[in-house]
Amino acid sequence: MSETKATNITWHDQHISKDERRALTGHGSAVLWFTGLSGAGKSSVANAVAAKLHARGALSYVLDGDNIRHGLNSNLGFSQSDRTENIRRIGEVSKLMVDAGVISLTAFISPYRADRDRVREMLAPGEFFEVYVRASLATCEERDPKGLYKKARAGEIKGFTGIDDPYEEPNAPEITLDSDGKGIEALADEVIVHLEQAGVLTPR
Ligand code: ADX
Repeated sequence: MSETKATNITWHDQHISKDERRALTGHGSAVLWFTGLSGAGKSSVANAVAAKLHARGALSYVLDGDNIRHGLNSNLGFSQSDRTENIRRIGEVSKLMVDAGVISLTAFISPYRADRDRVREMLAPGEFFEVYVRASLATCEERDPKGLYKKARAGEIKGFTGIDDPYEEPNAPEITLDSDGKGIEALADEVIVHLEQAGVLTPR
């Protein structure tokens, strides 16, 4: 799946380095890898963090599961191998964004630990933050913003994460956000503080 098929290809180094781009923006670049059940709040929190980053003049970009599956990954479904390929491609895109000096925020269920770990390994130490958006299945099912849990319970969707497909919780995420009780803004602030403590952002 991730082997290189092409031959006769040569790697070209860029003239402008990642560090030069970071010097230009005045902040670090990294991936905030949001993971959690559908309906946990990954996209909402990621977008709230991106808004806060934008407001303080930091470059960010949100990659969101539902959106990316309309374009770049429109040829992928929800089998284990398709989900793995989905995450691999997003990992590569995020890595490009980190090279470009951007803080990339990804909002994918990314249910398999091994897939997330593979992305972590693509990046340098301190560039990958696994953000576990933790919400109970009961909460997600009650929210059911897209009505998909209802369909999954009715057997209209097969292999739905949390119902009849697995979700492997992170073992040691950099950030855990408990979305059961707290609001989106408070959770987004927790992420910003973490980025300041990690040196990606200069504290205000
Ligand atoms: S992942 O597992 O490959 O990381 P991704 O985040 O891209 O999933 O897409 C998840 C979104 O697709 C869900 O939020 C939901 O809207 C939709 N979806 C459709 N079918 C499924 C399914 N079988 N399992 C989970 N999500 C599904």
